[in-house]
Parts: sequence; structure tokens; C-alpha cells
Amino acid sequence: MELQLTNKRVFISGSTSGIGFAMAQGFLEEGAKVIINGRSENTIREAIDKLKSKNPEADVSGIIADFRDHKSIEFIQKQIDQVDILINNVGIFSSTSFQETSDQEWEKMFQVNVMSAVRLSKYFLPKMFKQNWGRIIFISSECAQLVPEDLIAYSTTKAALLSLSRGLAQTTKGSQVTVNALLPGSTLTAGAVTFLKDQAIQQDQSEDEVAEEFFKKTRRSSLLQRFAQPKEISDMALFIASPLSAATNGAAIKVDGGSIPGIL
Ligand SMILES: NC(=O)c1ccc[n+]([C@@H]2O[C@H](COP(=O)([O-])OP(=O)(O)OC[C@H]3O[C@@H](n4cnc5c(N)ncnc54)[C@H](OP(=O)(O)O)[C@@H]3O)[C@@H](O)[C@H]2O)c1
Repeated sequence: MELQLTNKRVFISGSTSGIGFAMAQGFLEEGAKVIINGRSENTIREAIDKLKSKNPEADVSGIIADFRDHKSIEFIQKQIDQVDILINNVGIFSSTSFQETSDQEWEKMFQVNVMSAVRLSKYFLPKMFKQNWGRIIFISSECAQLVPEDLIAYSTTKAALLSLSRGLAQTTKGSQVTVNALLPGSTLTAGAVTFLKDQAIQQDQSEDEVAEEFFKKTRRSSLLQRFAQPKEISDMALFIASPLSAATNGAAIKVDGGSIPGIL
């Protein structure tokens, strides 16, 4: 399938590693021009080197911005005038009980997970309307609906993104701009790898055994019963970002390995 992404300008928040990095790689393979983002020059440089080593012709650059800081948007506004595709990907979590989650943790997660997406969308959406084409994709999570008890704050931010996404989609009526959200399930990014390694040492098990147990005991509702690869999330994002997905707007699309129960 030709995704028609050649020369599309893409910004992906939080994309020096994990799902964001996989999306950057995917867009570059499709001939898009990608701006990645992370908090340090080193991580951005390493990510760009890695992307270019696979694809020397890749049109990729990076912007340092830490979304814990509300002023990061001003820096982005100075660096980027326009994009065709905005991926609100950056997301942080902490696994703590509701009572142990401090106000500062709630505020930090809201700044990074929600307010980064609010500010970036506010900046880029009017420009998309002006050129009458654009795509905004919010990376939510299965947690928005599963709401694990140790991830209530994180899950709340991910649910907020679904309202934000749907609300913005409703403002696109009659235009060629679409706004959608993806809900990935447990995905094998660096965080998950570290979790598996730590648990394997603690429980004197192999990483495969820990992973198997995670799906048997913790993410029992998963139909996939394994971690998704970042590319499996990225492939869905690429399609939704492409001109081919014009009939999908205002949707919350599960890429959760079937972990969210129900028919919709
Ligand atoms: N992995 C999963 O199982 C999973 C499941 C469902 C949903 N999701 C969602 O998918 C998205 C990506 O997840 P992931 O697991 O790929 O994430 P990740 O591996 O933890 O992401 C790391 C990336 O985020 C950047 N980052 C972290 N804090 C930042 C900040 N304050 N400002 C700017 N960049 C920041 C890092 O940049 P530097 O290190 O360069 O600073 C790095 O590029 C998130 O929204 C997450 O909630 C993930």
C-alpha cells in the first residue's frame, strides 16, 4: 500500500526512543520529513544517527524541549513554522497507589501528557486549517479504559486525551484535517525491557517467564498475550496519518492486543 506520505512534514513529541522513535523511523521510510524531540542534545543526536544509519537520505532533525516546562512550546514555535502531521506522543507515568501519588506527580503528568498536546495542537491546528490538510494523532493508552489501580493519575491523563482528541475532531467538520487517538497496549519499549530484566532478577526467572506471568496475572484481558512491538503501534499511526485514512476522524483506535473488553 502506498501511504502517500512523501514530503509530509511530521513532528513527534518524545521520539528519541520507544514508540515515538519507531514512528519516526516509519515516517522516514515512507519519505516524510520528520522532526523528533527529546530532552537533551545527546539523546537527539544519538537518535538521528541511528535513523540516518538505516536511511542515510532521511530528512530528519531534532528539537530539544522538555514538556515539564510550560515554556517549551515557545521554543517550538520559534523553531517550527508548520507541519502536516502532529503526533502527540510524549507520555510519562509513575506506578504508585492513589494515596501515595503527590500533587506534584499529578501536575507533572498533566503537564507532559496533556498540556504538551493541548499547546502543540493549539499552535498547529489553525495552520492545518489554513492549508486545508492535516493530521493530529494523540497517543493515549489502554490504561484510559482499563485504569490499573497503581496508574490512576496516568490513566486519567490518557482519558483526558480522548476527550481532547474527540473535541478537536469536531472542530474539523468540512475540512481535510482529521484528529484521532490511538490506544496502545503494553509495548516492548526500553521501560518494559528494564521492568522484565529487574523482575527476572528479583524472581529468579527468565525474562520470557516474567512476561508470560505479566499477561497471565496482570494483563489477563489481553488477547495478544504478549507485548506489542513499537513498530506494531507505529504501523497503525502511519496509516491514520496518511491521506488514505480520510474517512477516519474523531476515532479512538485500539492497538491494545484486545485488552480492552467490549465490542467497541
Ligand atoms: N510503552 C507502552 O507500553 C505504552 C502503552 C500504552 C501507551 N503508551 C504511550 O505511548 C507513548 C510513548 O510511550 P513509550 O513507552 O514509547 O515512551 P518512552 O519509551 O518512555 O519514551 C521516551 C521518550 O519520551 C521522551 N521524553 C520523556 N519525557 C519527556 C519530556 N518531559 N519532554 C520531552 N520528551 C520527553 C524521551 O526523550 P529523552 O529521553 O530524549 O529526553 C524519549 O524520547 C506515551 O504517551 C505512552 O504513555 C505506551
